[in-house]
Amino acid sequence: MNPLAWSTGALAAAAALVACGGSGTDDAAPPADASTLAQGRQTFRYDSFGDEAKWTDQLRLHEAVASAVTPAVALGAGLKVDADALPDTLKQALAEHRVPLDDTQTTLALLQLDAVVGLKGQVVQQGGVLKLTRLGVTCALCHSTVDNSFAPGIGRRLDGWPNRDLDVGRIIALSPALDGAAKAVFGGWGRGKYDPRFNIDGKNRPAVIPPAYGLAGIHRITFTGDGDDIAYWNRYVAVTQMGGLGSFLDPRLPAATVTHGSVDLVGPRLPALQAYQLSLAPPAPPAGSFDAVAAARGRLLFEGKAQCLACHGGPQFTDANQRLHAPSASMAEPESPSYAARSATGMYRTSPLKGVWQHAPYFHDGSAATLEDVGAAYNARLRLGLTAGEIADLAQYLKSL
Ligand code: HEC
Ligand code: HEC
Repeated sequence: MNPLAWSTGALAAAAALVACGGSGTDDAAPPADASTLAQGRQTFRYDSFGDEAKWTDQLRLHEAVASAVTPAVALGAGLKVDADALPDTLKQALAEHRVPLDDTQTTLALLQLDAVVGLKGQVVQQGGVLKLTRLGVTCALCHSTVDNSFAPGIGRRLDGWPNRDLDVGRIIALSPALDGAAKAVFGGWGRGKYDPRFNIDGKNRPAVIPPAYGLAGIHRITFTGDGDDIAYWNRYVAVTQMGGLGSFLDPRLPAATVTHGSVDLVGPRLPALQAYQLSLAPPAPPAGSFDAVAAARGRLLFEGKAQCLACHGGPQFTDANQRLHAPSASMAEPESPSYAARSATGMYRTSPLKGVWQHAPYFHDGSAATLEDVGAAYNARLRLGLTAGEIADLAQYLKSL
């Protein structure tokens, strides 16, 4: 079947859908200022800040996508498809397996619908064939996933949930502009990880992609507490990592001083973008996902014998607003190179724990696969004297947060 048979008819209807900003739903608290939040959501999901200069002009990733990234390849690399952006005719064709998932033309049609979460493509049709002319990325690439309600990898957007399936390094490694050594670095990062400092300091040790929800009231952002607010880090990522047009300057990180282009497409977007992220509540644990009786025992341990409360106190379970901690407070340290040593503070922030059930693996390097592993790591390092049963109870409590 001609892969465009369904798409040409469906595109006009879909364009209307896209134009009104998609129809995703969020469980966030009711907005104080709905229009600011809507703007922030639009930016978070769809704004590339002009970073096509990096992904298209420099990395030529659009060529790689058009020639090699079929929908099957894209889903295999952990990219997600926004079901709300798909017209009904296309959904039906997908359900009936009439859409060729081994054809890059289908990928381009999905990009034209703005349906590939975190990728922003400009697609034109020439002689019945779709061509990808520009490709950029958005915040949603790493910090959104979908609920798989339509099919694995296809569903409604879950903004703020880290995409821990995403092998972003493998996608970057598709670039025809990179040499073998660079491809080997990017290709080695693995799923759910990204090194947001590699292109600054040349050191290679990726961090897990963290949630962008649950940050209201926390005034130290990132694993290392580099910024007092989300906007600080959003500017860092948008300019120095995504390649968006604008400037980043932090005297503590001279190597990260960067200006791209002569217009600022990042700065004006930051207030609404921050407001949107602050509205993203951490997800509650699914019903039946933990043992309430064991969790009650675990809470007593958390607050007592296991001494977790010393750092994970308060409503967000973090002392971030009071202090940062020496690298040795992280159970993932010592590591080489130390992630903290590469940051602006040289320290670690106590991680907030609301919604922690959702985003395994744990610690900034993902070295604890489960919450049981987290408890076991603290028990061994801090000689807490917890039994295996107590570590299990502690994990049940963490799953309940
Ligand atoms: C290529 C993947 C990627 C993209 C794109 C990306 N981020 Fe991140 N983000 C990360 C990683 C990895 C970290 C962890 C860095 C750290 O904390 O040291 C992070 C950290 C964060 C944090 C800190 C969370 C916390 O617990 O303090 C926020 C907030 C955030 N990103 C928001 C954004 C926004 C908004 C954008 C778009 C402007 C964006 N990110 C784009 C990968 C990404
Ligand atoms: C001295 C302060 C301190 C104490 C005590 C402490 N933590 Fe932590 N916790 C941290 C820091 C700092 C991090 C971030 C480490 C990293 O990412 O490398 C962290 C991270 C975590 C994480 C990972 C969260 C994520 O998003 O990956 C969990 C879970 C956790 N702690 C649970 C506990 C439990 C359970 C206890 C008690 C046994 C405990 N912590 C005791 C400071 C502390």
